[in-house]
Amino acid sequence: MATEPVPMRLEHLAGVLELGNRVFDVSAMPYTSWSLSSVAVHLDAQPDSCWVAEHDGRVVAFVLGSLSYDEREDWGYVEWIGVDPEHQGEGLARALLEASCQALFAAGATRVITDVEKDNESSAKLMRRSGFTDSVTVTLFIRHAPEPGPPRPPRVREDPAKARLHAAARKRHRQG
Ligand SMILES: CC(C)(COP(=O)(O)OP(=O)(O)OC[C@H]1O[C@@H](n2cnc3c(N)ncnc32)[C@H](O)[C@@H]1OP(=O)(O)O)[C@@H](O)C(=O)NCCC(=O)NCCS
Repeated sequence: MATEPVPMRLEHLAGVLELGNRVFDVSAMPYTSWSLSSVAVHLDAQPDSCWVAEHDGRVVAFVLGSLSYDEREDWGYVEWIGVDPEHQGEGLARALLEASCQALFAAGATRVITDVEKDNESSAKLMRRSGFTDSVTVTLFIRHAPEPGPPRPPRVREDPAKARLHAAARKRHRQG
């Protein structure tokens, strides 16, 4: 079993990034913004709401929270939570989420917000079991760019020396 949640520190940065890369599909929304800088910004801005759980010295779960959501300084936001598949179902996410929410409330949050992708049932269940209730639903509509046409044939570039000769010939022709 993994250990109790501990506050995230700088030395957990690489482990958190690597675990996120494994548990999020970073090629698809809403996970495309997962990056070293997104982890670092959370740790920098609101370290007390960032927690990890370790097993044998490896990060096996994390939560990253922040204070202020949608320009509201008194709303907390839990944007990222992930648990190593080998440790899912052990209650780690609930424990980390609780630690993050308590820190956000202690820092002045009047509510904590999180967003859950509509097919992510494990995350929705985690949130409901942790006292979150469904609120506004936002659906992202996407319009793709039109298919590009067939490739244009490459432009044949004239020899620059010949081009100067032709231009001089055209000039003489016009003058005389
Ligand atoms: C969502 C996730 C963080 C849950 O982590 P976890 O440690 O397995 O969750 P917990 O063990 O703390 O379980 C919390 C609750 O959710 C439920 N739950 C968790 N995974 C579930 C699943 N796959 N199906 C149904 N319920 C699930 C648990 O039963 C538990 O409820 P309970 O207390 O009534 O038993 C984990 O599945 C994960 O990392 N998913 C991939 C990353 C992701 O989608 N993150 C969320 C978006 S940022």
